[in-house]
Formats: sequence, structure tokens, C-alpha cells
Amino acid sequence: MSALATELNPFRVAIIGSGPSGFYAAEALLRRPHVLVDMFDRLPTPFGLVRGGVAPDHPKIKQVCLVYDKIARTTGFTFLGNVTIGDDLMVEQLRAVYHAVVIACGASSDRRLGIAGEDLPGSHTATEFVGWYNGHPDYQDRKFDFSHDTAVVIGQGNVAADVARILANPVDCLRKTDICEAAIEALARSCVRNIHIIGRRGPAQAKFTSVELRELGKIRDCIALCDAADLHLNPTSIEELADPHADESRKNVEAFRSFAANANAPTSAARHLHFRFLETPIRINGGSRVTSVKLAKNALAGSRFEQVAVPGPLSVELPCGLLFRSVGSKGVSLPGVVFDECSGTIPNAKGRCLDAGKPMPGLYVTGWIKRGPTGLIGTNRADSVETVGSMIEDMASLDPAPRPGVAGLRAALSANAARVVSYGDWQVIDSCERRRGQPKGKPREKFTHVVDMIAAANQSAHD
Ligand SMILES: Cc1cc2nc3c(=O)[nH]c(=O)nc-3n(C[C@H](O)[C@H](O)[C@H](O)COP(=O)(O)OP(=O)(O)OC[C@H]3O[C@@H](n4cnc5c(N)ncnc54)[C@H](O)[C@@H]3O)c2cc1C
Ligand SMILES: NC(=O)c1ccc[n+]([C@@H]2O[C@H](COP(=O)([O-])OP(=O)(O)OC[C@H]3O[C@@H](n4cnc5c(N)ncnc54)[C@H](OP(=O)(O)O)[C@@H]3O)[C@@H](O)[C@H]2O)c1
Repeated sequence: MSALATELNPFRVAIIGSGPSGFYAAEALLRRPHVLVDMFDRLPTPFGLVRGGVAPDHPKIKQVCLVYDKIARTTGFTFLGNVTIGDDLMVEQLRAVYHAVVIACGASSDRRLGIAGEDLPGSHTATEFVGWYNGHPDYQDRKFDFSHDTAVVIGQGNVAADVARILANPVDCLRKTDICEAAIEALARSCVRNIHIIGRRGPAQAKFTSVELRELGKIRDCIALCDAADLHLNPTSIEELADPHADESRKNVEAFRSFAANANAPTSAARHLHFRFLETPIRINGGSRVTSVKLAKNALAGSRFEQVAVPGPLSVELPCGLLFRSVGSKGVSLPGVVFDECSGTIPNAKGRCLDAGKPMPGLYVTGWIKRGPTGLIGTNRADSVETVGSMIEDMASLDPAPRPGVAGLRAALSANAARVVSYGDWQVIDSCERRRGQPKGKPREKFTHVVDMIAAANQSAHD
């Protein structure tokens, strides 16, 4: 054991972000003796996208919070919520008082389409919509106009599936979930009847996982449809589907075939989900708000698993009143940390942050900000284990001088009057939310504004 991580000189680590990757890093660290972990989050509430991203009608997935709760209760763990790194505190300040810092701040922005009309009223990112219905404080001022018959979702990944499902579900299916009340009220008045989900490539390249796709075919009072002609795959796609690793894509194409068969059956379903392929948005039209989207018709080009969409000369105009861009998230930079603007990630070697190709001592990264915005919750576990492994390998070369940890930050934190939210405070907020949900039969009614979260924590402190 190095001179670090001893009873007299515990190894002090700061983690920036309390999403899955942050918690899995904490778990891997706290398995070792004499390690202390302080986890910072800009929100007063922990769990990142598990709270603010995972769809309300998927409560089982959120049970992973029980695992994170157990980690948070481990000796040596401290939560410091409502502290934004890069604003309330700088990464450099953390590096001065901790032996190591792990950046686990996710990917909070979005990829852009880069087309005219993208920012017209009525054109939204999936992140805004998801954040709004999930009660994320950043998105509560967003307004979605559901008075239109037709909504378009650009992208065919699982986030697009979530967006489409929330639009297509009868609102009664959502009432007993933890979706926030304002969203229920707005969705209950929704006039959206047709939802088009647009893929720039073909059915064999859709990024949905098959369970999520099949779920879209089982929504009450809703029918999933696609054009049988789109299922005439090109030879390269047929080769892709024959690959032993293409199980998910094969299941997806099977699901699309059943959706195509639906087109021949009479239906009285109130809502229609239309899966469309080989179409790229090239302009979003409208004066004061979105009225239609122009879609170029594409062909696929390239070799197996590397096929790209190539727009041809033909295009179609799809009238719509509401459009969601669900084309992937993007990381944002932290002041003082080298950042790759193109990929939206922090350059790293097995989790060691790099500056001009060289590791920055004691600075590590994990999760979506490390590898980009893909992968399920569990994917972050192996990712964080790798990062912590690198840190442990480096331990002997890190400066072993004792560090004060958060005690060295108190002056800076009180100077900008940050109300730091402890894990105990979060537990109080959590029980208030659960109580607020009870009369409605909901697992919780979330606080959607930071002031209300803090007030709940403060109120109980005075009780
Ligand atoms: C809409 C949506 C739904 C999803 N649903 C599922 C699902 O059902 N099942 C599944 O397996 N996967 C799902 N995923 C994927 C899963 O959520 C991600 O794999 C996972 O959340 C990534 O973890 P992370 O820790 O890297 O980032 P995040 O979960 O985003 O956590 C990052 C944390 O860092 C904090 N933070 C950011 N910046 C700062 C800062 N400057 N200072 C302090 N704190 C900061 C944030 O507040 C946040 O708490 C979904 C993703 C999205 C976008
Ligand atoms: N229930 C769940 O398990 C769940 C729920 C939500 C999210 N997640 C996970 O979270 C991760 C992120 O999901 P995601 O849906 O945001 O991303 P994603 O899986 O990468 O899907 C993005 C989609 O956007 C398309 N796209 C990208 N750029 C485009 C452009 N310029 N024009 C048109 N289309 C474009 C992509 O098409 P191309 O394929 O052609 O690039 C793809 O269809 C995924 O790993 C996902 O599985 C899981």
C-alpha cells in the first residue's frame, strides 16, 4: 500500500457528477481501504439521467437508484449537491484539495442538425422535452404546443422511442408514474394524433433496442405503421442482418415487418406512429412557428456496418406543428479541462485526462463525457471500473501530501453563498416528494425548481 490511502493519509477523491458513471466510480473506489469520496452535483438531487432522463413509464429501470443509495450510505462517501463545478468551484480548486478528481458530468447538450429553421418555435430538442416531463429544473420554462395533429421526431434511437411513446401513450397510462404534474396536464389536452419517427438510414440501421421498439407497437389505442416498400433492403443491409452479432437489428426489422402488415388492417386507433426511413431533414419551414419539415430522400452507400445516408435529388415536405430533434446528446466543456469540441468529450487514455497527449496528473474522466453519449446505464459501470483502475495504477506517482478535501473548500463555498445539499438533505427532499405523490397514487411528485428543493430541505431542518 502506498503512503497514500492510509489511516493517517486517506486518499481523497472528488467526483464531479452524481449520475451512473459517478456512482459506479464511487463504488469502485470505496471498495478499497482508506478512500474518501466527495461527490459534487450541480443539482440538489442525485442520480443524473436516471432521475432526469429515464422515462417515467419505465419505473423498474429507476430501481437502480437503490444501488446508488447503498453506495451513498457507505462510510467515506459525501454528497455535495447544488454545487456547479466550473461556476461555484473550479476544477483547479478541486485538484488543489483532493489527490484525484473524476469528471463524470455526462453530456448535457445536444447535437445540432445544422439546418435552416432548427430554432423555430415548435422545434425542440428531445433533451428539452424529456427534461420538462421529468421535472428537470433547467427545462420547466419550456412550452410545447400540443394543439397540432402531427408531430415529427427526428432520429431512431431509444431517446426518440421515449419521446414518441410519451406523445403516443393515452395520458391515463402516465398518471400513476413520476411524470411531473404540469406535463400530465399539458399532455391530457394533446391533439397530437400522428407521430412520424424519421430515420436517415434504413430499418436495419435503426438504433432502437428491440425491446423498446416492440413496446412502441403495443401502445394502447395506437397503431405502429411503416411502408412495406422500405423493407426491401439493399444487399449490404441484407448482409448486415446475416451477421451473428446483428440479433437486435434482425429483431427490429421483424418488428418493422409487423408494423408494415398493420397498414393493411382496418384500425380505429386514435393515434398513429409512422416509422419512416431514408429521409434526412434539410429544412424546417415556418414563419412564426414550425409548419413543415423538408426531407431529402436518401440512398445508402458504403460497406457493411459503415453505410451512410446519401441524400439524392428528391425530397418530400411533411406538414407538422411540432418537431423533436433526437439526434444524440453532446458533452459541454469544463473550464480548465482540455475538451474535444467535435466529439463533445474529454480526450483521455483509459480515463486519464490528456493535455496535448500527456496525462494530467490526478485528473480522470468517466461516463458519457469520457466515451460519448451512448450506452445503457450498466455500460457506465465497466467504464468507471476502467477509470478507477487507471487511478489506482497511478497512485504511487500521485503527490502523496495530505489533502484537506472539502474542508479546504468551505471558504470558497461560503463566499458565493452556495447552499450545499447533503445526502441527508436529499433524503428529506426524497421523502417530501414521495409524500406529495401519495394522494395521486404516484411514486413521487417531483420538485421542479431548485428553490423548492432547497426549501423542502430547509423546512425539515427547522422541524
Ligand atoms: C432521455 C434518456 C433516457 C435514457 N433512458 C435510459 C434507460 O431507460 N435505460 C438505460 O439503461 N439507459 C438510459 N439512458 C442512458 C443513461 O441515462 C446513460 O448511460 C447514463 O445516464 C450516463 O451516465 P453519466 O453519469 O455519464 O451522465 P449523467 O447521467 O448525465 O450524469 C451526469 C451528472 O453530472 C451532473 N453535472 C453536469 N455538469 C456538472 C457540473 N458542471 N458540476 C457538477 N455536476 C454536474 C449532472 O447534473 C448529472 O447529475 C437514457 C439516456 C437519456 C438521454
Ligand atoms: N430504454 C433504454 O434503454 C434507453 C432509453 C433512452 C436512451 N438510451 C440509450 O442512451 C443512448 C443515447 O440514445 P439516443 O437515442 O440519444 O442516441 P442514438 O442511439 O445514438 O440515436 C441517435 C439517432 O439520431 C440519428 N441522427 C444522428 N444525427 C443525425 C442527423 N444529423 N440527421 C438525422 N438523424 C441523425 C442517428 O442516426 P444514425 O444511426 O444514422 O447516426 C440515430 O438514429 C443510447 O445508447 C441509448 O440506447 C437507452
